[in-house]
Parts: sequence; C-alpha cells; structure tokens
Amino acid sequence: MLLAGCGGPQSTLAPDGPAAQAAAWLWWGMFVWFGLVLLLVTSLWLVAWRRRPRSYDAEQARQVGLRWTLAGGVLLPGLSILVLLAFGIPLGLRMLPLPLGGPPPLRIEVTGHQWWWEVRYPETGVVTANQLILPVGQPVDLELASADVIHAFWVPRLGGKLDMLPGRRLTMRLRADRAGPYRGQCAEFCGSQHAHMVLAVEALEMADFNAWQAARRVEPAVAREHAAAVRAFRPYCGECHRVAGISDGRRAPDLSDVGARPGLGAGTLEMEQGAMRRWLREHQRLKPYNGMPRHDRLPEDTLDAIAAWLETLVP
Ligand code: CUA
Repeated sequence: MLLAGCGGPQSTLAPDGPAAQAAAWLWWGMFVWFGLVLLLVTSLWLVAWRRRPRSYDAEQARQVGLRWTLAGGVLLPGLSILVLLAFGIPLGLRMLPLPLGGPPPLRIEVTGHQWWWEVRYPETGVVTANQLILPVGQPVDLELASADVIHAFWVPRLGGKLDMLPGRRLTMRLRADRAGPYRGQCAEFCGSQHAHMVLAVEALEMADFNAWQAARRVEPAVAREHAAAVRAFRPYCGECHRVAGISDGRRAPDLSDVGARPGLGAGTLEMEQGAMRRWLREHQRLKPYNGMPRHDRLPEDTLDAIAAWLETLVP
C-alpha cells in the first residue's frame, strides 16, 4: 500500500536503464539500512522508557553517558556513512560518462531555457524542442547546458539528476533499455513556470530512430491551402521560431516537427485536436510570462490558419 504510489511514468523506483537501476538499488539499500537503524533506536527508547531507573553515582553516570554518546553518536552514524559510501561510490561510477571500449556513444545537446528544452543532434544537424528521441539499448551522452538560469535535467526512470549551468557543459550518460515513452521534468526551480518544463522522452528501436532522423532532415513541402499561413508566419513568428526550410529563428523552440510532439508549451497542453489553436490564443493565460508575445495584432482567422498549418508539421 505504502509503495503503491511509487510507480508511474516518472518514478525512480521503476528504472529502465543502468544509471536509474543503480540509483534505485541505492534507494532500496538506504531504505532497508535506515529502516533497521530506526527500528534499533525505537527499541532502545522503548526499553529505556519501560525499565525502572537504576541509581548511579556521578562517575558511573558519566561512564554510561559517554558509552551511549560514542555508540549512538559516533559509531552508528560513522558505520552508516561507511556502508553508504561502500555501495554508493561504485554505483555512482556507473553513471559517469567513462570511455567505452567500442565507438563513442551518440551525442545529443540538451539546453535548458526559461521554460523549454532545446534538443540538438550535432551529428545530423537535427533540432527539436521539448522532446528527446533516443535509440533503445544504446548509451547516449547528453551534453547539458543552460541558456539563462540554472535548470536540472531529470528523467527519473532513466537516470540521475544533473544541473544545467549557464556557461558550462556537463555530460550525462543514459541508456534506455525498453522502447517507449518516458517523462522528464526540470528539477531545479528556475522561475514561475518551472513546473511547465516537462520533457517528453521517447526511446525508439535503432531502425525507427534512424528513420526518424532521416525524416527530420527532409524539409516539409507546404500544401497550397497553407501558403497564406506560411506567409503570415514568416515575418511574425519566424524571427524567433525555426521551421526547416521556412524560417531560421533561434530564440524560441524549433517547430519543424511540432505536430508530432505529445504536448505544447513544454507539457502545458496535451497535443490533441484544437490544442494548437488554443495555445496560440491563450498561451499567456495557460503559461504566464512565457517568452512568446500575445498575438492580439494578428487577425483571429490568420492565427487559426497558422495553427492548422503547424499541426501538419509531422516528419
Ligand atoms: Cu527549468 Cu526548473
């Protein structure tokens, strides 16, 4: 019962990769060890409470006090820390991006922004946002950085947490052992919309991953019915947003495959029929202070046409 709430898409206790497995083992080890310590201390307290007090002279009282202080205040915590280090250090080593025997792992650059994730695949030039697509069963080196304040990368079922610091690039190695969706969340308070900084992670079989990357390198053709929307988008939205083959903005999320993402606004809205339209009209109410201006200056039918076109951007 107590642990029934510990499953789910964002649980450290449902690991699906070696780094997360190590963290889960450490958690269970600490749970058992400190459970035993709690049991011991509670038993001693109960014994002391029920026993009739003996009479000690001053010297005896000092001796007894000293013995308990040494055993309970030095020996027990010292032993606990030693046990924790003996298990924790080897497990921690498994999370480090140490050199591998074979070819170097795939590199993916993940940059935190207030409040969204920029994801770049430097080997192929593919860029996306608020979603991280990984090949399954392969170690992947994530190069973590920040464009503004401190964020923290955390996909609980795949690995530990690592800060994303402005001006520094830290590497985290992950491996997803099972294909499917995972959920990540910024784990460092980074402003009012910190909670709306969700990263949708998806592990794909290698062939699917390669197909996804290849599809992402093809620039989408614009159907005639969306030509007007694209003409409106380019000067108005394209300064900040990139859409492959259409615009080159870098300040805001790349939208080249936005229609295929599971959410909008970094987890603010689920992607469903009409979500894009709603997001464009109400984004400052749904996610206040996000960097996108209100679209009051655009006629509503133009805005809706842009939304309809963006929904078609699926690789
Ligand atoms: Cu980014 Cu919290």
